[in-house]
Amino acid sequence: MSSNNKIYRSIVSGVGASLPKEIVTNKDLSMRMDTSEEWIEERTGIKERRIASEGETTSSLGTEAAQIAINNSGLKNSDIDLIVLATATPDNTFPASATLIQSSLGIEKGYAYDMQAVCSGFVFAVEAADNAIKAGNIKNALVIGSETFSRILDWDDRSTCVLFGDGAGAMVLSASSDDTNRGVLSNHLHSDGRYKDLLYVDGGPSISNQVGFLRMDGKGVFKHAVHNLSSAIIEAIDYNDLTIDDIDWFVPHQANIRILEAVSKKVGLSKDKVIITLDKHANTSAASIPLALYEAIENDKIKKGDLVLLEAMGGGFSWGSTLIRW
Ligand code: ACO
Repeated sequence: MSSNNKIYRSIVSGVGASLPKEIVTNKDLSMRMDTSEEWIEERTGIKERRIASEGETTSSLGTEAAQIAINNSGLKNSDIDLIVLATATPDNTFPASATLIQSSLGIEKGYAYDMQAVCSGFVFAVEAADNAIKAGNIKNALVIGSETFSRILDWDDRSTCVLFGDGAGAMVLSASSDDTNRGVLSNHLHSDGRYKDLLYVDGGPSISNQVGFLRMDGKGVFKHAVHNLSSAIIEAIDYNDLTIDDIDWFVPHQANIRILEAVSKKVGLSKDKVIITLDKHANTSAASIPLALYEAIENDKIKKGDLVLLEAMGGGFSWGSTLIRW
């Protein structure tokens, strides 16, 4: 593809999602631990979350979401050249769960790998796929965010376990050389490892023989999230010579309603333009943006030609944005 000197853009050609069957409400949690429906909803906006049962894995949820995205794109599975799976909860330490999804989808060509940027993973994965398309190396990329955070939660720590859920979302990006202005317009990524101790997992193959549990300084994360997400939005808008009012839909990582409200207020973004699914899904890490995108499309919110800003922040810290003309 690169030999004909065409300029390629990455157009979104399909989106899909998959959720575990089991719904766990705040009330359910209040019967299992010292918490209350009110505490969780008031502090976070979360009402319920999906929790993966035995047999529901990051790769199985990711495969289901991916198949729906491919079907919606009108492509065949064999048209996919690249799979980037954003996840912090792979099935195994290796091989990459992306290759498990590749095999479940019956894809025998191209390449597949996992992207680890925790809650920001989806925007990091979109950037990688977009670059491969723009370079003319591939035609169709499957970008997936899939997580089973319930497996790395300390269910005795009420300050973290009530915040997360499981799920998967996927997007097909396809090369287009049309002279329209549709497609991925910009990606901006950041990380700063000085803050690694504010949000991390206390296990892993190189430091212990345990997978470990998620640990978090909630207040510290909150403060940085509002700052980093606001600056990521302003960065994307300035880079594209836009104003905040030009954005049709803001599809943020779904961590906490208070973070989203504080960010919206700081950058002057109307609440009506923010896609919110955290009430039903809680924080699904790298899966939260494509899950929200899928819901917004299914509900006829996002339409062709709309300007859609994705943004996320997660452990590391890592954060960033992607602006797409749908
Ligand atoms: N139920 C009831 N009480 C609780 C619970 C619970 N589930 N968890 C904590 N508490 C108690 C605490 O023990 C504390 O009690 P105390 O005052 O007697 O000591 C009290 O509630 C207040 O605790 P705080 O930690 O001060 O509560 P805060 O208002 O900061 O809210 C929260 C905590 C919701 C975690 C908030 O800090 C937050 O949202 N932080 C952002 C974290 C986040 O979104 N992380 C996701 C990963 S990063 C990302 O995705 C952007």
